[in-house]
Amino acid sequence: MKLGIIGAGNVGGTLGAAWAQKGHEIFFGVRNPTADKTQALVQKLGGKARAGTPAEAATFGDVIVLTTPWPQAEAAIRSMGNISGKILLDATNPLAMGPDGLGLEIGHSTSAGEKVQGWAKGASVFKTLNTTGFGNMANPVFHGVKSVMFVAGDDAANKPKVIELVAALGFEVVDAGPLRNARLLEAHAMLWIELALKRGLGRDWAFAVVRR
Ligand SMILES: NC(=O)c1ccc[n+]([C@@H]2O[C@H](COP(=O)([O-])OP(=O)(O)OC[C@H]3O[C@@H](n4cnc5c(N)ncnc54)[C@H](OP(=O)(O)O)[C@@H]3O)[C@@H](O)[C@H]2O)c1
Repeated sequence: MKLGIIGAGNVGGTLGAAWAQKGHEIFFGVRNPTADKTQALVQKLGGKARAGTPAEAATFGDVIVLTTPWPQAEAAIRSMGNISGKILLDATNPLAMGPDGLGLEIGHSTSAGEKVQGWAKGASVFKTLNTTGFGNMANPVFHGVKSVMFVAGDDAANKPKVIELVAALGFEVVDAGPLRNARLLEAHAMLWIELALKRGLGRDWAFAVVRR
């Protein structure tokens, strides 16, 4: 599949490398495609990746993946131009510093996922790949147990394709319902961040689903 990844940092770079290994074609869309760090990433991925503007990456991708910091998300989406009809995976978390430190800027009455849908007119937005650290996206399997990744979105026809793409990374994928449930997934991400960064768990652990 052709994937346009907007942002080539921790999350974008990790996802691009992992999907390239699975045979997908990657186009990173960044503000400065000739920057050394972006070119080094492209070189590392060999013939499977290239870099250009967000608009070029969005045109290339059958699926677009948004991996910018939250404050840059709206500008990044606008810089893609018309993405009506495209599938857009939103991996952002609406993080901001508050009186108690890092927290979610929104969450009760809307979410980053829903805001992204509002900016990405006509695109089919799915909230996913936001609830665990980027290191776990490179290797989501812990002692043979797949860690969990959720997918929330309203487009039932395209959801199986998104689930397959996320599952290809090695996650157990759970359909978390409509895009509105991005509010829950972003809070879930905040729990991972809190435990990882403030409560001593570090980055090398993940949530998994167990059943009886
Ligand atoms: N880090 C994690 O473990 C993790 C896990 C799950 C979700 N997330 C979420 O994923 C997002 C990215 O996190 P990250 O850690 O990967 O951040 P990061 O390492 O800072 O990477 C962000 C990338 O976005 C690019 N960017 C910024 N503004 C842009 C724009 N207008 N157009 C195109 N590209 C732009 C940056 O390029 P420049 O070099 O030009 O700045 C950089 O390549 C955040 O929303 C975060 O909350 C992070």
